[in-house]
Amino acid sequence: MSNTKILVTGGTGYIGSHTVVELQQAGYDVVIIDNLSNSNIGVLDGIQRISGIRPEFLQGDINDIRTLRDLFSTHGPIKGIINFAASKAVGESVQKPILYYRNNLVGLLNLLEVMPEYDVKGIVFSSSCTVYGEPDKNPIDESAPIKPATSPYGNTKQISEEIISDVIHAGSPIKSILLRYFNPVGAHPSAEIGELPIGVPQNLIPYLTQTAAGIRPLLTIFGNDYDTPDGTCIRDFIDVVDLARAHVIAMRRMLDRNDTAPLEIFNLGTGRGLSVMQLIQSFERATGVKVPYTIGPRRKGDIEKIWADPTKANEVLGWKADTDIDQTMRNAWKWQLKVTPAK
Ligand code: NAD
Ligand code: WQD
Repeated sequence: MSNTKILVTGGTGYIGSHTVVELQQAGYDVVIIDNLSNSNIGVLDGIQRISGIRPEFLQGDINDIRTLRDLFSTHGPIKGIINFAASKAVGESVQKPILYYRNNLVGLLNLLEVMPEYDVKGIVFSSSCTVYGEPDKNPIDESAPIKPATSPYGNTKQISEEIISDVIHAGSPIKSILLRYFNPVGAHPSAEIGELPIGVPQNLIPYLTQTAAGIRPLLTIFGNDYDTPDGTCIRDFIDVVDLARAHVIAMRRMLDRNDTAPLEIFNLGTGRGLSVMQLIQSFERATGVKVPYTIGPRRKGDIEKIWADPTKANEVLGWKADTDIDQTMRNAWKWQLKVTPAK
């Protein structure tokens, strides 16, 4: 009997590649579609070195519905989809809103349209804690209000959630699980796959590890005058492998059970808020490597503090993010050392 096959869009990307490995290790067959706009083909080698299995791969764009129909006809039967494919740079989305609305929404619409044609049962969607804006209280659970988006990127996540909800309420014979990620960090402990930012990193951990590796002279902490214990912003940093595991559980739940609601939403975080300063300290403690940093002005649009109440995911999915943050920092560092060009 052949294994259940899952389509992973954006599967050579950061979170996608880690999820492909976890799916394979759970016994699923995987087909990836990725246009390589923010990843490279070498990621497939890394995946294969970990799992021993090379996933099927199609270089293509989910915004092209003919490509998708072709994929479902020739690579099927596909039972479930995990939709990672999207553009994700918040600042760039402010400059290029049309690109972001098109890339993040058209592909999703295509997938939702095609799913019933090919008897695909469910779709897991990569949403974000950005939908909560600045929370009124922390930790934040799934019932908290959605705040007006502060960037086109954030808006695409809100609109995507609404599109999926509307399609299901209209009677489409599909299920969906919306996963609201907090701040994914780290890399696979094997250092075969990890985050590969193109150009100057916008996010804290890749900037930090590149600074520790000497690629950048100094990490700038964006503000130390926030209303937090050490004045720096607080986030819920979640290990990328913990995050990846949640997708396997969500997929199994959608495909194997007929007693669950067609649309479910889960926060994926640790439940622990760490400040930017605490994260730097964790990195230094875990690796023994000093990070040169300076304090700079606040970054426009930053949330002061946000961390998850992951109780629903813990109880309903039976999932918990339990990787120790120092271990996550060691993994991030091991990955950085692997990808740092020799001088
Ligand atoms: P990533 O850029 O590493 O991965 C996305 C992948 O999708 C890339 O490989 C890219 O080449 C591909 N892609 C983009 N548009 C495509 C298209 N039209 N057709 C086919 N492939 C396409 O990003 P990531 O960090 O792995 O994020 C994955 C998902 O999770 C995204 O939807 C992102 O918005 C969401 N998310 C990420 C974070 C985060 O901090 N990394 C947080 C919350 C949500
Ligand atoms: C974390 C903290 C910065 C870089 C973004 C998106 C969000 C979600 C996750 C997708 C902040 C500080 C950062 C630096 C710093 N993505 N920082 N110096 O802003 O929480 O969230 O990624 O959905 O939508 O907005 O993550 O890693 O950029 O920043 O001091 O060089 O680190 O100010 O407090 P953020 P981040």
